[in-house]
Amino acid sequence: MSDPVTSAFAPFSAPRGGVYVVFVGASLKPGPIPQKYLARAADQIAKAAKAANFLGKSLTFMDLLAPSGIDCERLLVIGVERDKEKKTTDFAELGGFALGKIGKSKNATVAFAAPDGEWDADAAADFMLGAHLRAYRFDKYKTKVKPEDRPQPLHLTIDVANVAGAQAAAGARKAVASGVELARNLVNEPPNVLFPVEFAARASELKKLGVQIDVLDEKAMSKLGMGSLLGVGQGSSRESRVVIMRWNGAGNKKAKSVAFVGKGVCFDTGGISIKSAAGMEDMKGDMAGAACVTGLMQALASRKAKVNAIGAIGLVENMPGGDAIRPSDILTSMSGQTIEIINTDAEGRLVLADVLWYVQDKYKPVFMVDLATLTGAILVALGVEQAGLFSNNDELAARLVEAGLATGEKVWRMPLSKAYDKIIDSKFADVKNAGGRHAGAITAAQFLQRFVNDVPWAHLDIAGVGMASPSTEINQSWGSGWGVRLLDRLVADHYEK
Ligand code: BES
Ligand code: MN
Ligand code: ZN
Repeated sequence: MSDPVTSAFAPFSAPRGGVYVVFVGASLKPGPIPQKYLARAADQIAKAAKAANFLGKSLTFMDLLAPSGIDCERLLVIGVERDKEKKTTDFAELGGFALGKIGKSKNATVAFAAPDGEWDADAAADFMLGAHLRAYRFDKYKTKVKPEDRPQPLHLTIDVANVAGAQAAAGARKAVASGVELARNLVNEPPNVLFPVEFAARASELKKLGVQIDVLDEKAMSKLGMGSLLGVGQGSSRESRVVIMRWNGAGNKKAKSVAFVGKGVCFDTGGISIKSAAGMEDMKGDMAGAACVTGLMQALASRKAKVNAIGAIGLVENMPGGDAIRPSDILTSMSGQTIEIINTDAEGRLVLADVLWYVQDKYKPVFMVDLATLTGAILVALGVEQAGLFSNNDELAARLVEAGLATGEKVWRMPLSKAYDKIIDSKFADVKNAGGRHAGAITAAQFLQRFVNDVPWAHLDIAGVGMASPSTEINQSWGSGWGVRLLDRLVADHYEK
């Protein structure tokens, strides 16, 4: 169980045991309804605030244990006073913050009322989403956790004015939360458990939600001429796979699909150009792009999104060995273009080259967005704050930027141009797979673009945000599930009919 929290909306009523959560601003007074319930504790709140120097500032809190005159074990007072206007992310963040402070209790009631003005049903649903995302745990391999240290199942009741509205808004959020959770689980799994064939089996479970699944094995890929992807996998004793997930939710079943493509390197040793030992364990997360695409497909299918969507993931393991590709080998990709291998550690682009080509050729999508933990260079450029965005289409790029600001999964656009493209011309083949030290994230994107024709395309380099990024109010997991909320939002805002 990765999320030990159950939650429900209810109409406002007086505190009833457990933790009672209220929100205050600078006046230190909650909204009129909870204020009424707390009338007999008003003095205590004021005194405690003074003692703690609590000013009601956003994401600060005050915890009153065993308050007298009200029926609760703890009164948790959370500040929401901000200088700037509230956005969607703030309520998810607030939900995550509240859940963190509720801690190990079994039962909590949130009086979801603004200290002044009104919080709507969407805000309540976002709050619930944030609480669930915060509650995620991945501890299935820890056998020695004492029962008292295990996260207890918590039941969270969120009291709101408009129960039906909040429930309706929460439906889609729950679908998205389940997609994020799936993506995190996949990224967190160790590579001896989650190798390409196993990943394909997990993705195939989306059949239950009505997603159509096609799995290409190595024979099928050979027949298609996917020499680039197969080249990466050939040093591994584990077979490679490509999985195509299709969700047909559009009113018009024949409408063109949007397409998402994910890098799924289940473990990246670097191959013959082997990586150094320090930190190599992080390379179990080199399939975060594929995990995001799988989580996104689950989210879209779970909320029955009115869109036709394709998710395509290239699953391989990059290992050294007697059969592994070498620097100077030349591979022939499905597109027909030949690729000179300069560095076997630049393997993600080799995987994506064939999957991108296959998807645009076979499905003629509305757009393709790929996600990949592609380069260390994007970490140098943008750190762990934002993903790198590369695109051949200004409209698609702008929509991604906008969805990023709305969800908090931010992307920053980087350049593409002929001059950068020239860097990966090869002496012996059509293109080479690594361009040297300069502009590493850009030359990787230029490489991908050589396998994209006229279709609107965007590439998200998520090496900095997909795993091992610092904890936030809504994510305490190593594998972040980054991108599910971003792309769900992109689809919801622009591509559903
Ligand atoms: N998977 C790595 C990129 C990566 C680095 C992801 C750090 C997450 C954290 C990728 O396959 C890789 O090794 N890229 C090389 C490319 C180079 C050899 C041209 C890199 O970035 O060093
Ligand atoms: Mn690599
Ligand atoms: Zn890699």
